[in-house]
Amino acid sequence: MNNFYVTTPIYYVNGDPHVGSAYTTIAADVMSRYQKLAGNNVYFLTGTDEHGQKVEQTAKEKGFTPQAWTDKMAPAFTEMWKALNIHYSDFIRTTEQRHKDSVKKILKTVYEKGDIYKGEYEGQYCISCETFFPENQIVEPGHCPDCGKKLSTVKEESYFFRMSKYQDALLKHIEEHPDFILPHSRRNEVISFIKQGLQDLSISRNTFSWGIPIEFAPGHITYVWFDALTNYITATGYENDSEKFDTYWNNARVCHLIGKDIIRFHAIIWPCMLLSAGIKLPDSIVAHGWWTSEGEKMSKSKGNVVNPYDEIKKYGVDAFRYYLLREANFGSDGDYSTKGVVGRVNSDLANDLGNLLNRTLGMYHKYFQGSIVASGNYEEIENSVHQMWEDTLTQVDKHMYYYEYSRALECIWKFISRMNKYIDETMPWALAKEETQKTRLATVMNTLVESLYKIAVLVSPVIPEAAQKIWSQLGVEKDIQEARLSSLHTWNTFEEKHTLGKATPIFPRIEIVEEEPKLDPMQVNPDLVVENPIDIDTFKKTKIQVVEILEVSKVKGADKLLKFKVSLGDHVRQILSAIAEYYPNYQDLVGSKILAVTNLKPRKMRGEISQGMLLTTEDEQGVCQVIQIPKNTPAGTEVE
Ligand code: ME8
Ligand code: MG
Repeated sequence: MNNFYVTTPIYYVNGDPHVGSAYTTIAADVMSRYQKLAGNNVYFLTGTDEHGQKVEQTAKEKGFTPQAWTDKMAPAFTEMWKALNIHYSDFIRTTEQRHKDSVKKILKTVYEKGDIYKGEYEGQYCISCETFFPENQIVEPGHCPDCGKKLSTVKEESYFFRMSKYQDALLKHIEEHPDFILPHSRRNEVISFIKQGLQDLSISRNTFSWGIPIEFAPGHITYVWFDALTNYITATGYENDSEKFDTYWNNARVCHLIGKDIIRFHAIIWPCMLLSAGIKLPDSIVAHGWWTSEGEKMSKSKGNVVNPYDEIKKYGVDAFRYYLLREANFGSDGDYSTKGVVGRVNSDLANDLGNLLNRTLGMYHKYFQGSIVASGNYEEIENSVHQMWEDTLTQVDKHMYYYEYSRALECIWKFISRMNKYIDETMPWALAKEETQKTRLATVMNTLVESLYKIAVLVSPVIPEAAQKIWSQLGVEKDIQEARLSSLHTWNTFEEKHTLGKATPIFPRIEIVEEEPKLDPMQVNPDLVVENPIDIDTFKKTKIQVVEILEVSKVKGADKLLKFKVSLGDHVRQILSAIAEYYPNYQDLVGSKILAVTNLKPRKMRGEISQGMLLTTEDEQGVCQVIQIPKNTPAGTEVE
């Protein structure tokens, strides 16, 4: 049994966790679960990074003390990890006493070594990233090369860590340990950065106070990265538990999972700190890529930040975990898309894995009433399945060693496909028709049941809930987390007469509900929906004509009504219209040519006759206006 220590970055508490933090944490959880299956003794750490100017500022803006703000924010992380099925061993907050003690200890050690000195710092500082940027790193003058925000020139008394002293030792270490920085593609980037020359590192501040005080530097607090990075050894007992520290640091394979944006801090500053303090270096720093959302950079202003809670509500925790690890190679960037998730769920989970389980259990119940029957001899095809399984275990192990989650899953799914094909090739339904083939049928069906038992174990780090369901549908009542890879080499797990459970879909297919495409109002829309449509003949029954207003007057006792005497060219008639309120100066209408419906049945209003209806427009405020026609149009002209 080997000790294995895996960490995530500790997350800033300025905002809520999102798909980026969820990604690293899921990856660490999967690694932790896998290492346990491999029989290793695992410690898995995650937590929150709670000091620094930005937290101090955010707290102030929100009307909190920094401590109260971090106390409020930290649970957002623990709650999300719970929802995502993250089984960490420890959750560290940098405001805890154990961490303050640990930072004090490493600072003291490094100071006594002569690696810390007082100086003055003048530099270009990004408040947002809490980082000073030397000239050679600034791309656009005055702007942060990482986040693009404005840099401030800061000059202050500061303590410095002699990082330059460790340049050669670090380069040597990286060269002698090819897996120190993973994926390998990132190594060169770090090496060439170091070769440009390491500068000493400012590790204290006296311009704000939300941080860990430095004993030998009154008025100064610890610069946030020196504070933050130390969390990895705090949790393994650097300051207060030497036995734990021996187990999970000195004698463990230590791995830090991080995002590519913080690789320099982890692959340069952190090892230099450890070299100075005389502490063993971690085994691997593994940097993953970044997620975009539907092809675009995620940002709050665009409103396209993927919220893990929404996703697990739509697809389930397992599907979300599976998609993140399957979709992008761990070191590369990935694009999160609804189409992508649905595709993965439907094809990989529902079709490939779900169907294998359904078909197998369905047939076992049909042919043997769900009770295990003894196998006969293996044929060529079973031998090749067994061999492929052994190869799968080996390859998955190799990929997991290099944190190639996507590749590992690809291998497992190749085996799943192979088993689906095995059904088509062995045709159990045909065997079932012949009495002489009963034993052959049992061999085939047992191979399928056994393969599902094993597949469930191998996928359990990524989709733990579904894996457990597969086991219980197979009638296995044990906790799948207790399984060990070492027990997966035999093909006689199930005893005769063992009863299989019933199949219920573990991954229902997701139907994509296409959102109604938003219409461009300036675009002609061929699918325009018209309410209560009429046909042309109905319309033609209405006679609309141009009429000339000859006289207008009010109707006695009716405020709203106007009485019009209009000419239709060959005759004159009277029309009433309730538009008095819109035409206080109604006399101005005399001489206008307007539109009227002229074949309505005459009706009486207030004792007056109305022989038609004036057409009006009505705007959004309800204001009506008669429809004026050019005055040279003859009265009586019909509207077609
Ligand atoms: O950097 N895709 O914390 P943090 C993938 N406190 N990963 C993403 C991402 C995205 N779109 N956005 C962010 C810190 N991340 C420090 C760490 S460790 C001693 C101190 C990842 O909350 C990012 O790469 O800003 C980083 O690894 C992690 O989220 C935490 O970022
Ligand atoms: Mg960040």
